[in-house]
Amino acid sequence: MDKLVKIGFLGCGNVGGGVWKLLNGFADDIAHRTGLRFEIKKVLVRSLNKQREIDFPDGVLTDCVDDVLNDPEISIVLEFLGGEKPAHQWIQMALERGKTVVTANKVAFALHWPELHKAAQDSGAGLYYEAAVCGAIPIIHTLEQSLQANRISYIYGIVNGTTNYILTRMSREGAEYSDVLADAQKLGLAEPDPSSDVEGFDAAYKLSILASLAFHGRVPFENVYVEGITKVQAEDIRCGQELGYTLKLLAIAKRDGLSVETRVHPTFIKNEHPLASVSDAFNAVFLRGHACGEMMFMGRGAGDLPTASAIVSDLLRAAAAEKHSYPTFENVVNPSVPLQKNTDWQTAFYVRMLAVDKPGVLASVAQTFSLYGVSIAVMQQKGDQTDGRVTLVFITHQASEQAMTHALKSINSDLVSVESVLRVEN
Ligand code: HSE
Repeated sequence: MDKLVKIGFLGCGNVGGGVWKLLNGFADDIAHRTGLRFEIKKVLVRSLNKQREIDFPDGVLTDCVDDVLNDPEISIVLEFLGGEKPAHQWIQMALERGKTVVTANKVAFALHWPELHKAAQDSGAGLYYEAAVCGAIPIIHTLEQSLQANRISYIYGIVNGTTNYILTRMSREGAEYSDVLADAQKLGLAEPDPSSDVEGFDAAYKLSILASLAFHGRVPFENVYVEGITKVQAEDIRCGQELGYTLKLLAIAKRDGLSVETRVHPTFIKNEHPLASVSDAFNAVFLRGHACGEMMFMGRGAGDLPTASAIVSDLLRAAAAEKHSYPTFENVVNPSVPLQKNTDWQTAFYVRMLAVDKPGVLASVAQTFSLYGVSIAVMQQKGDQTDGRVTLVFITHQASEQAMTHALKSINSDLVSVESVLRVEN
């Protein structure tokens, strides 16, 4: 005899619709594999009158959140609203009432994880969030369970599909950012308001969650340095390509002892790096554990069914659990052993400059770099002059972020203008 589990939805947009389809279309397989059957008892929507693709049975749709949160028969709440408010309060209320929550909401999660974690622990409810980071890729479960025997020294990757799609097209077509963004919006591949994606915040929320799990210590969203792709120029992608590099928006977290750096920014990687071939809207996470070595996980980070794949898997885990487990660290605002935020990380740099074409200019740039301990790995001068100036492209060896900032400020601006600075991950 299958076990019947009654569940409620908060919201039912694209992802909720995918979960509805997966739960209904795959119900017999799920029952066969797990002995579980699900009844979607209530679905909270904004408007009861809206035309919908799904033909919900009578009495399922409601526009009153209490119909989900106060229903004693609903033991698991699936949250699809996204964004911080009101989702965060409603997740919290569900947990306080002992209802397990499955969510794809990285914003509510990254910003309010300690409170949500406490509410879940206090009531014994489960809190499942595989879909919050990289959609279908099972990276949360992997970090929480499968890599427990590892000390992870770094985890980085492409965790935002919209920006990967834009950078991929800029690289293939030599097109400028604003043209590709406009086209992606027309095709429905970028949001009408793309700011959270293109300014890097979506990736930063996800990085805060990944780093916290990987390093077994809370890494708040506020600790993540964020730089999006809005200033990326086609010319830099082209210059990088000539030197064997691909540009990606990387979310990077590294740990050395208690010191942790977390940053999201456009980054050149060697064409041979496994992440360089992760194109279009795909996501991928690359990490190193002291026992497992380097690994990469790749897949679809968004979309109705890929996200539903993660949510339904969480739902099955939640419904089968006799006791829920929680992250393996003290997830409070001020933990007793806090990880320390490192803002002066070491990285290589790509710098493009326009320089007056006369003797001594190159020597002066090299001398300024040298004063700040920045060592040049590659230098290219482009042949053609524009207004008496030539393009110089440098790739440096690893240097401290702060040293590089000081060096660039000290370059003689009468002779040289710094056009772009990008980081390079080797
Ligand atoms: N907007 C995100 C992306 C998907 O473009 O990857 C949801 O996190």
